[in-house]
This record gives sequence, structure tokens and C-alpha cells, in this order.
Amino acid sequence: MTESNPANWRRTDEYLVDTLVGHDTALESAIAAQTAEGLPAIEVAPVAGKLLHLLARIAGARRVLEIGTLGGYSTIWLARALDEPVRAGTGGCVVTIEAEAHNAAVARANLDAAGVGERVDIRVGRAADVLPTLVGTEPFDLVFIDADKESNTTYLDWAAKLGRPGTVIVLDNIGREGEIVDPHTTNPQVAGTRAALEMLGADARFDATALQTVGLKGWDGFAVALVTDAPTPNAR
Ligand code: DHB
Ligand code: MG
Repeated sequence: MTESNPANWRRTDEYLVDTLVGHDTALESAIAAQTAEGLPAIEVAPVAGKLLHLLARIAGARRVLEIGTLGGYSTIWLARALDEPVRAGTGGCVVTIEAEAHNAAVARANLDAAGVGERVDIRVGRAADVLPTLVGTEPFDLVFIDADKESNTTYLDWAAKLGRPGTVIVLDNIGREGEIVDPHTTNPQVAGTRAALEMLGADARFDATALQTVGLKGWDGFAVALVTDAPTPNAR
């Protein structure tokens, strides 16, 4: 039997990409541009980008919220799941929040080059500041959380508030090489992720699970949650 190690996880992910995901000039150019601009290679793996895309289609999503744009790689996958805005009145959109103006500029160029720019509204700013400005817009059908892990519980709370019963939430990076099992962690990102998982388990607004993953991005994982129709805990 082949050994479970990072080189073999990578080889297997490459096989899955070749077999199921394919190679795509727009996506690969987005990664090349991101690298050339000095952004870190912390975008989702291709198999995970395809999963986000499929989840958005399975959910019939029209409005997607992404917290953490980086260079727009996952944003392209999500935007491609939506109808084009030219189909009058039925077009979907991704609202994506990015704290770093330089990242947002790289993402804007990548999204435009991929032909999905019209479907994507990039909001530059700290998500904690931008999210309250989205109150009063139509509910989001899918929310992808992939930003500063310290704020994960804040982002889950906003995802519930800006969603509706049936909204799908995906939370990236729940595994962190197994670090999340350490209750005494001093890593604030791990602590933020643990708090988020505990919230998903305890808060009646969510029904959730999480999967560990190995592959091109090492040993990590993601949580998937459904917003339920339970009353919000602090509703009066
Ligand atoms: C990091 C962040 C991510 O969202 C990710 O998928 C991998 C790594 C990081 O900040 O190190
Ligand atoms: Mg991530």
C-alpha cells in the first residue's frame, strides 16, 4: 500500500485534478498573477475550488458572499456557478470582502481576465467593518469564510444574519495539521477556528459537519453548515 505522506497526497490531488477538475487557463493565470504580485499561495486547492463551485450550483445560489478574496481564485470558481448578469433580472453576484487593497487589485484583474468581473463586487476593508454595510441587502445563499481565523465566530454570526434558513456556509482551514485538537493552543488562529467549530456545534442557528482533507495544501479541512430556521439566540 502506498504510504500516506505529503508527496503522495500531492500526487493524488494532481491525479484528481487531471481526472475531474481539468486545467483551466483563467484559473492558472490567476495563480500565476497572484504569485508574481507576491501574494501568499494560500488559495484553496483546485479540488476545493471545484467543490465550492458545485455547492453553489447544488444550492441554486444567486447571491454568494465571500470573506477573504486574496487574489480571487476561489471567487472565480464561485462566480462561474452563477448566471450571467446579462440574463435580465436573473443574474447572480458574488460580494467578496478583502482587507488588503493590493490583493483586491490583483483579484479585480484576475476576475476581469476570467470573464466574470461583472458578476463580482469586491469590497475593500476589514470584514468586521464591511459586513454591517450589507444589512438590508437580499439574503446570501452561500457564504464562504476564508479570512483571518481569529474572527471566525464574528464571521459565522454575520453569515447567519445575512443569510436565511437554507443558506450554505463553508468555513475553510478547520484542520491546521491537527492543531485544532489542542485546547491549550497559544496560536490565535487555531483558537479562533476552535471557537468557530464549537459555535457551529452549539448554536441552534447552524447544523454543521467538518471534513479533514489532505492534498496539495497539506493536512487541513473545512466545515460545511446549513443555516436553520431556529430563532437567533439573542432574538428578543
Ligand atoms: C492560511 C490561510 C488560509 O486561508 C489557508 O487556506 C491556508 C493558510 C494562512 O494564513 O496561513
Ligand atoms: Mg483558506
